[in-house]
This record gives sequence, structure tokens and C-alpha cells, in this order.
Amino acid sequence: MAILTSSTRGIPDIARIPRHIAIIMDGNGRWAKQRFMPRVMGHKRGVESLRATVRACRDIGVEYLTVFAFSSENWRRPVDEVSFLMSLFLKMLEREVTSLHKNNIRLKIIGDRSRFDEKLRKTMLDAEQLTAANTGLTLSIAANYGGRWDVMHGVQALLLDHPELATCFTEDDLQPYLSMGDAPEPDLFIRTGGEKRISNFMLWQLAYTELYFTDTLWPAFDRAELEQAISSYQHRERRFGRTSEQLPGLPTS
Ligand code: IPE
Ligand code: IPE
Ligand code: MG
Repeated sequence: MAILTSSTRGIPDIARIPRHIAIIMDGNGRWAKQRFMPRVMGHKRGVESLRATVRACRDIGVEYLTVFAFSSENWRRPVDEVSFLMSLFLKMLEREVTSLHKNNIRLKIIGDRSRFDEKLRKTMLDAEQLTAANTGLTLSIAANYGGRWDVMHGVQALLLDHPELATCFTEDDLQPYLSMGDAPEPDLFIRTGGEKRISNFMLWQLAYTELYFTDTLWPAFDRAELEQAISSYQHRERRFGRTSEQLPGLPTS
């Protein structure tokens, strides 16, 4: 199946719109602070940037958009901020799911849900089930997600199903057990907010992703910024270990 082809093996056509974009939506707190507002106002505005980004991705034909909403490390934040984020997440799901569905968007939540309360877990599941058969953009929201957790959890699940593979499983055996197992690897990674780190996001899948960092704070990120990131991507050369000279004759995926 084409979508299971690892981008570390095929060469995606760089002139095309990236099939899969992954974003660390960072800088909400600083955006609010610059405006003398409480940090949480930045999170609230950040939801609007997400809505605009989803719409832009859908319009320009991106197939997968994966966004980091809450990391497994974000529990370390002040209790008030964490509980605000949880209720914002719940409200956002309740409010947006109908419009996502109308727009043929498939919603997935990735991450360890066991720490979320019952109501949020149910809302997540309902939203996923409602949109499961949609064929447009796949929007994956990473919540209580960590890249290390993802790999460890995947290995545990694989070995539960296939104990005989304990000493000999391959990357292809593991693939379906990872949370993004049914998606191509991200072509383009964007981090807003100026930090130049991965912060435990999609460690496995980002192996050969093109990285783009911008100082723009997430609540100020808009369609023009997205287009700029895509244009930067389209001027890269993806070699996956080969030399430039080898590329012209290779089939693209
Ligand atoms: C990202 O913005 C959103 C979450 C981590 C939930 P931040 O809240 O990290 O904003 P800054 O980095 O403090 O500005
Ligand atoms: C990363 O942002 C996680 C999300 C955007 C959800 P952080 O702002 O928490 O990242 P670090 O911890 O400063 O690297
Ligand atoms: Mg931050």
C-alpha cells in the first residue's frame, strides 16, 4: 500500500505540496505575555491559529496534518494552566467536531489517554468515531504524547501480539503499532516560537523530515507563514543518504 511506503525509502516529489506536515505549536504563553495578558489567553488564541491552519491545509491539498497540543512533559506546568488546557481541549472538541465532519476531515487523537478524565476520553472517542470514514485531510492531535512513549508502547504492543518476534522484529513489523502507523512519515516539520528543538515529538517518524523553525509565535501563525514554510520545503533537496547525482533517475513517490 502506497501510504505505508517509508519516506526514508521512496523520494517524495519536492515540487509537490508536502503530503504530511507536523507542527509544534509553540509560543502561546509569550504571545500573551507580550500583550500583558495571562498565558492562557495565548492558548485560546492558539485554537484560532489551528483552525486557520487546518483550513489552509485542506485547501492546498495536504493529506495529513499532525499537531502537538500537549506533551507528556507539559503536566509539569502549574496546575491552573494544565486544567485550563484540559477544559479548552474539551470545549474545542465539542465545538469543532461538527464542522470538521462537514469538511470531510478525519480526526485522530494520538498519545496516552489514560491520564485524561472520563468525559474528555469519551469526547475524544466520539469525535474520532464520527469522523472515522472521512476521506479528506487527516488531522491528528497529539495530546499527552511523547515520542519515547510512542516507540516503547509500540514495541510492547507488538511483542504482546508476537512474542516470537522478541529478538528479530523489523521496522516494518513495528510500524503498524506506532500511533501514526497508518500515515506516511512527515515531509515537513514546523516549529513556531523560536526554539530549535524537537521536545519529544514524533521521534521515530521525523528521522528524515525537513525541519523548519520560525520565530513567529503560534497565535500569530497564519496562512502566509504556512505558505512560506512550504515554499522553503520546496527548495530543499531530499537525498535520504544518496548523492545529488543519483537523484534524477530515481522514481518519486
Ligand atoms: C505552546 O505554547 C502550547 C503548549 C505547550 C500547550 P507555550 O505555552 O509553550 O508558550 P511559551 O513557549 O511559553 O511561549
Ligand atoms: C512543546 O512545547 C509541546 C507543545 C507545543 C504542546 P513546550 O513549550 O512545552 O516545549 P519545551 O518543553 O519548552 O521544549
Ligand atoms: Mg513553549
